[in-house]
Amino acid sequence: LSKIEIKLGDIPEGKNMTFKWRGKPLFVRHRTEKEIASEEAVNLAELRDPQHDKDRVVNPRWVIVLGVCTHLGCVPIANAGDFGGYYCPCHGSHYDASGRIRKGPAPLNLEVPYYEFPDDDTVIVG
Ligand code: FES
Repeated sequence: LSKIEIKLGDIPEGKNMTFKWRGKPLFVRHRTEKEIASEEAVNLAELRDPQHDKDRVVNPRWVIVLGVCTHLGCVPIANAGDFGGYYCPCHGSHYDASGRIRKGPAPLNLEVPYYEFPDDDTVIVG
């Protein structure tokens, strides 16, 4: 299937759920107010792949990214690592709660796919 429809009400605040989309893991993260505030406040000068949080989300409550490490393609672990977002155990890449690379060998942020919200409880990715 080229598109996936996900019901957001099934994902509690603070949790990340993994789906399968086009043969790859897809992360959907329901961020807390605290995570939103801290990611929006990150100084872009600190980033290896500088991107403002606002340019990576449609609705700040939801982070939707491919669960594919940009180093060599392992699947990162959610809510782990030094930046509270994702941690890739293969070679130690740390991503923040916006999916941006913060430490370790990965060169780029986790990829944001195309998606839209047809209503408050639904996202369609693809
Ligand atoms: Fe993720 Fe190497 S594949 S750190």
